[in-house]
Amino acid sequence: IYCRYKKQFEKTTALPRCINVAVVGLSGAEKEKGAVGVGKSCLCNRFVRLSSDDFKDDHNSLLSNSDFSGRVVNNDNFLYWGDVIKTSEEGTDYMFRVIEQTEFIDDSTFQPFCGVKTDPYIKRCVATKIESPEKLMYICRSQLGIEEKYEQKVLPPGEFSVDGFLCVFDVSVVPGRSIVKQLETVTNILTNIKNTKKPVVLVTTKNDKFNEAYVQEVQKLVSHSEFKKAIPIVETSAYLNVNVDAAFIALAHIIDRFKGRTKIVPYLESVKTT
Ligand code: GTP
Ligand code: MG
Repeated sequence: IYCRYKKQFEKTTALPRCINVAVVGLSGAEKEKGAVGVGKSCLCNRFVRLSSDDFKDDHNSLLSNSDFSGRVVNNDNFLYWGDVIKTSEEGTDYMFRVIEQTEFIDDSTFQPFCGVKTDPYIKRCVATKIESPEKLMYICRSQLGIEEKYEQKVLPPGEFSVDGFLCVFDVSVVPGRSIVKQLETVTNILTNIKNTKKPVVLVTTKNDKFNEAYVQEVQKLVSHSEFKKAIPIVETSAYLNVNVDAAFIALAHIIDRFKGRTKIVPYLESVKTT
């Protein structure tokens, strides 16, 4: 009887499978990324905050000194976006914990914050063991400096071990950023991810204003012989909430070695049904 009870107990209280994801992509000062970022923060925001009222599109990386050293940024170049449970189509519950690897810029010097000499972004962002004691979950820019007025959730203590990457590619035209620059950076990031042996999904962002030529470039990029196994592409729009969950679930499926078929619906098809 005890055994039966125990089994039942385990069944009903089974914790969802926990997946730690790092969201990466072109980052840096305006001269690197152009007038606006590639959409890493908006993708994370849309994914972890379920209410549409909690979607903000201003996650500018220009920070004051005091915000950089506050408990949310914690002198790091990554944000902890918290966790969220999502259910895949076949009915598996996944708990995703999400971090965004970015580069914060000092709003007085317009240079990246780098007290100590750090690795360049393309190398640093593929770290798979991450620690930041007492770091608080990021919610929105207005939270910085008045953290006590917002929900305070701490990055789980100890090592945050990254299970897989979402590498972002912006397919919209952004003033001050060349497609060549983004292709070069993303190719380098993908190469560095490959060396970690962790899975990756290439997530195109801002498909609500996609440029056809950029979409084609991304196709070419992933079929590059260098990457051997083709990297899956998921076409998203954080603004319209299209394919955002699908991108994370596709990654979870690779991590989990899911034997079924992962349904990836192209943006233009997916947008019709949302
Ligand atoms: P950094 O962290 O500063 O490198 O930038 P990021 O990659 O986090 O970019 P972020 O998410 O902050 O997005 C930058 C801007 O792109 C936003 O302020 C929006 O104006 C725009 N943007 C982001 N997602 C979308 C989208 O789905 N559609 C459209 N049209 N614009 C978007
Ligand atoms: Mg950001």
